[in-house]
Amino acid sequence: MSNEKKQCEFMANLCEKLDQCEHYQKFAVYRDKILALSNESLEKTIAIALSLCFVCAILVSISAVALKPLQVENKAMDMKKNILEVAGLLTEESDINEDFASKIEAKLVNMETGEYVTTIDIATYDQRKAAKDPTQNIKIPRNKDIASIKRKAKIAKVYLVKDGDSVKSIILPVHGYGLWSTMYGFLALDADGQTVQSINFYDQAETPGLGGEVVNPNWRALWSGKQVYSESGDVALKLIKGVVDKTKDGAEFQVDGLAGATLTSTGVSNLIKYWMSAEGFAPYLDKIRPECEGE
Ligand SMILES: Cc1cc2nc3c(=O)[nH]c(=O)nc-3n(C[C@H](O)[C@H](O)[C@H](O)COP(=O)(O)O)c2cc1C
Repeated sequence: MSNEKKQCEFMANLCEKLDQCEHYQKFAVYRDKILALSNESLEKTIAIALSLCFVCAILVSISAVALKPLQVENKAMDMKKNILEVAGLLTEESDINEDFASKIEAKLVNMETGEYVTTIDIATYDQRKAAKDPTQNIKIPRNKDIASIKRKAKIAKVYLVKDGDSVKSIILPVHGYGLWSTMYGFLALDADGQTVQSINFYDQAETPGLGGEVVNPNWRALWSGKQVYSESGDVALKLIKGVVDKTKDGAEFQVDGLAGATLTSTGVSNLIKYWMSAEGFAPYLDKIRPECEGE
């Protein structure tokens, strides 16, 4: 039987069942009464408007429920794409799911101890959600909240790019306030936990052309090879006003500030300072650096 025939039969069955339904019969009586009213009558206008709202609400609800799994899947795919991108592994030919599964290893890290956490299901753990949940977050004291984020998740999700047993990149989630928005991104470091490979901001709402230049590939390219910690172990990496003079001492710790966007630039410096400090990933990097470099 053809598909069209099957559909006709299904609709005919549905109509027949509806006709037998007691509630539908009552509804049909009201419907016929309303339809018999004059088009100018207030009752008919209100009834038609309400019915239209009802039908639209049902359609929107059905679409929202039906599309939810697709939205979740797309969101997860987008995150994988951002991680592959910051790791320098994204090409036009990339199969995002396959490349992510074969090249990237996700790990959960206890932010206080820097130890790996293995008691939580990593596949379903969402660090951004955890940061908003009082049972899963830590309130940051004002004097330490240089990234202006108020709270952070007790457990962070980091990513390692491995080649066999050796670590090629450590990818850390970072976020902090710019001028208008909290900027969320990833910072990719070499196995030394010191040399920057790349940075990307996948969620921010700074002004396009000003603070929004944090997504500009030319500006992002300036980060490659920069150093995070000074000899004394302090976070030295920061954005400066203007262009970095590469001939001067300390240039390896400096990135050009964004023109006309000093506040966003300060926000980026602050979030780097926070997440690379003892409040952020320094305990974790101290723990894994010997492992990564020894491999
Ligand atoms: C419409 C508008 C949007 C702006 N957006 C940003 C922004 O996204 N980031 C930023 O740091 N400054 C932004 N600014 C500029 C700031 O208000 C401020 O003047 C600037 O950060 C100072 O930087 P400058 O010393 O480099 O000029 C914006 C200004 C205007 C008028």
